[in-house]
Amino acid sequence: MPHPSPPTFGQVLRRLRLVAGLSQEELAGRAGLSTRGVSDHERERRTSPRPETVRLLADALQLSPMDRAALIAAAHPELAATPLDASPPVAGAPTLTVRVGPSLSLVPPTRLVGRALEVEHLCGLLGGGNGRLVTLTGPGGVGKTRLALAAAVELESSERFTDGYSPVELAPVREPALVASTIAVALSIKESGDQPLADLLHEALRDRHLLLVLDNFEQVLPAGLLVASLLANCPNLVILVTSWERLHLRGEREIPVEPLALPDSADTMPLARIARVGAVQLFVERAGDADFNFVLDAGNAASISELCRQLDGLPLAIELAAARVRVLPPEAMLTRLTARLPLLTGGARDLPLRQQTLRNTIAWSHDLLTPDEQALFRRLSVFAGGASIAAIEAVAGSPDTGELDVDVLAGLERLVDLSLMRRPETAGEPRFGMLATIREYGLDRLHSSGETDEVHQRHASFFLALAREAEPALTGPGQREWLDRLSLEHDNLRSVMSWTLE
Ligand SMILES: Nc1ncnc2c1ncn2[C@@H]1O[C@H](COP(=O)(O)OP(=O)(O)OP(=O)(O)O)[C@@H](O)[C@H]1O
Ligand SMILES: [Mg+2]
Repeated sequence: MPHPSPPTFGQVLRRLRLVAGLSQEELAGRAGLSTRGVSDHERERRTSPRPETVRLLADALQLSPMDRAALIAAAHPELAATPLDASPPVAGAPTLTVRVGPSLSLVPPTRLVGRALEVEHLCGLLGGGNGRLVTLTGPGGVGKTRLALAAAVELESSERFTDGYSPVELAPVREPALVASTIAVALSIKESGDQPLADLLHEALRDRHLLLVLDNFEQVLPAGLLVASLLANCPNLVILVTSWERLHLRGEREIPVEPLALPDSADTMPLARIARVGAVQLFVERAGDADFNFVLDAGNAASISELCRQLDGLPLAIELAAARVRVLPPEAMLTRLTARLPLLTGGARDLPLRQQTLRNTIAWSHDLLTPDEQALFRRLSVFAGGASIAAIEAVAGSPDTGELDVDVLAGLERLVDLSLMRRPETAGEPRFGMLATIREYGLDRLHSSGETDEVHQRHASFFLALAREAEPALTGPGQREWLDRLSLEHDNLRSVMSWTLE
């Protein structure tokens, strides 16, 4: 008897959507995808959805582990046995892979709020051939990375980008000269002998219809020359950059990313309308994550609206504030925030107003920590690209050695609760990391504490020991496992090298 063929991704998706009682439009809204995208998947007009898309859909449908597994299995039978966040198998050309595993900010754990028009505009520009270099600019925490990723996911299966998209996280890179090798690593292009890296990149990308997403370019601006040469040599390559400022290259299209929409005034807007305003929506969702019982109601709507206004509609600031709703109801939060803003604004005179707001919000969360938790926080900012618990313990100092009067795990939990750290979903051992803007603040605190050298020293010792341990294993039976481990720590290892060279 022939085996019945397994259900297709479209069939499974449709069944689960109907069980959840959602229309295609509602599912698309929750997942941060377009309705057309969902419809195309259901009607099998798109083949092989990417892991990110499957995960966004699974999260939006709030699937049970069994249903989640069924959806994954239908999407990629070869992935069914591995966690969704593991690096997908190499697809297409042997030299190109899409990096999913270790990336921190590039794998959104939450649904996209608002931004439908922005995503559409961006997709029009990138997909329509009108912009081969588009730079999303704006202050830290305004939502550039989220927007870039949403557009990339949307475009991944378009005819224009038959090679999909590749995200390259530049936040941990401080040296413009290292940008080429970071791109090469992200694309799994092997450096070979004496051929200049730029030539290798040109060669590998020359015939690709690829969307390259370069995230956090602000600290490597001189590497704009590499961007220009890639575009000049690879006619089908399109580059989407996120940066606090533009690259100033010919043909660059700058799109300033605005903060989320704000409510006019709580008194004049009905509750149902306030609930649909972007900034309020984000606050309410994050507050709901922190406190299961939290709801927007007539009693707190005015305070929440005012809070969002005080926070300039900046997503990161809103997230940091909302994470504290369990202990501080919005009204009390507003009183405290208003009391501290003028005080703090005076301190950072050289920053643009929005960045001051964000800094103040980070400072405000930071002040809630005990002195030992603060020490843990600033020491953790030394890690580039996240860290395992073992690395954190070695670098931050464990209570056993009497250096820090806080249990590292409890301290981490507190930092995650306050949204100062995140625990990205990665396969295997848990890792913790910080968003670029928060890390920047942590490094400042580290500097003022006078601990910079000692913490860098410990960071270097830990990773040098790891590299030493890896060396003999790289030719033995555990080779694969060690390669994976080293690749996760790539940014940390590179940061050790820059520090020891300084
Ligand atoms: N539209 C949105 N919906 C849901 N969450 C959002 C949205 N925009 C931003 N966020 C969240 O706000 C935080 C900051 O956003 P993001 O990391 O995209 O900012 P950014 O502009 O890239 O900052 P940086 O310059 O520091 O890299 C993240 O946690 C992100 O998930
Ligand atoms: Mg970013």
